[in-house]
Amino acid sequence: MLTGGGDCPGLNAVIRAAVRKGERHYGDDFVGFRDGWKGVVEGLTTRLDVETMRGTLPRGGTVLGTSRTNPYKLDGAVERIAGVLDDQGIEAVVAIGGEDTLGVAHRLHQEEGVPLVGVPKTIDNDLSATEVTFGFHTAVQIATDAIDRLHTTAESHDRVMVVEVMGRHAGHIATYAGIAGGAAEILIPEERFDIDEVCRALVARHEKGRYASIVVVAEGAQPAEGSLTLADAEVDQFGHVKLGGIANVLAGEIESRTGFETRVTILGHVQRGGTPTAYDRVLSTRFGIGAIDAVHDGAFGQMVALRADQIVRVPLAEAVGELKTVDPDLVHGVAEVFFG
Ligand code: F6P
Repeated sequence: MLTGGGDCPGLNAVIRAAVRKGERHYGDDFVGFRDGWKGVVEGLTTRLDVETMRGTLPRGGTVLGTSRTNPYKLDGAVERIAGVLDDQGIEAVVAIGGEDTLGVAHRLHQEEGVPLVGVPKTIDNDLSATEVTFGFHTAVQIATDAIDRLHTTAESHDRVMVVEVMGRHAGHIATYAGIAGGAAEILIPEERFDIDEVCRALVARHEKGRYASIVVVAEGAQPAEGSLTLADAEVDQFGHVKLGGIANVLAGEIESRTGFETRVTILGHVQRGGTPTAYDRVLSTRFGIGAIDAVHDGAFGQMVALRADQIVRVPLAEAVGELKTVDPDLVHGVAEVFFG
C-alpha cells in the first residue's frame, strides 16, 4: 500500500480497514511503501499489519508518509518500480491518492501491467468518478468552525473578513463552508469573479444596515481577465502551481475600493490536519475494505468510488478523466440567496 499527494484526514482509516480485512479475512501479508511513489521507486518499505495500525483510526496524516514524486518525471524510475515489486514479492498494489497519484497508477497498470487498485483521496472533492472523497467533510467542518469564530470578531469591529480555503480547481470546500458559515460572498475557481461586483455587493449590504461581512474565497479562484494581477508561483513535479494568497490581494482591493476595514484569514493546511470527522472515518473504512475486496476479485485497473451511497468500482481512467466542479445550482440557487 502507498499514500501519495497531499495528506488528507482518513488516510490511516483506509489503510487500517484494508489491512484488517486483508489479514483477518483473506490471510494477506502487507508491505507499506514510504512516501508515495518515492518509496516504490527506492524500495523504502515499512511494516504494515493489524498491530502497527492500532490506534490510528482517529489520527490525521498518513502513517506511511507521502510525497508528490512522479516516477514518470524521473529517469529509470518506472523500470526500478518493476524490480522493487518483484524483489518484495508484491502481488497487488493499493494506491491511495488524488488525480496525480492515480494518474501514475493508471499508467503503471496500463503500460507496465502492474496489478493495481486505487482509492480516491482529496479534501478538494474534485474527482468526478466518485460522489465524495474522504477528507472533504473534515475540511468543510474545520473551515465552517473557523468562519463561525470569525463572525463574532467581524461583527464586533464591523469588518470584512476574507477567508481563504483550499480548492485548487474546484470550489467545493468554499461553497459548502460558505453556505454552512453564512458567507456574504463565495468566490470559486469555476466562475471568474469581478472585483467591482464583489465590492458593490458588500457596500449594498452595509448600506442595508448589516454589520460585517464574511467573504470566502477558494485558493484557486481567478479574477476576471485584466481586473487584478496575481503573482506567479512555483510549480511541482505534476506541473501544479503552489497556490495560496489570493485573499491578501482581494482584501487590499476591498479595503481600498470600499473603505471598509478588511482582515484576512488563510486557513491553509489546518484544513488537512488532525482527526477525521465520523463521516470521513466511515467512508475511509468502507473504501479500505472495498479496495482489498477488489484486489481479491482481481479487479485491477479499477478504483473504489461512492455512488448512490454504495461502494462501487470504476476504471482508474475515470478518476483522472474529468474534474468534478461545483453544481451551479448550489451556488446560484442556494448560496446566492444569502449574498448581499
Ligand atoms: O489537492 C489538495 C490540496 O490540499 C489543494 O487544495 C492544495 O492546493 C494543495 O493540496 C496544497 O498542497 P501542498 O501540501 O503541496 O501545499
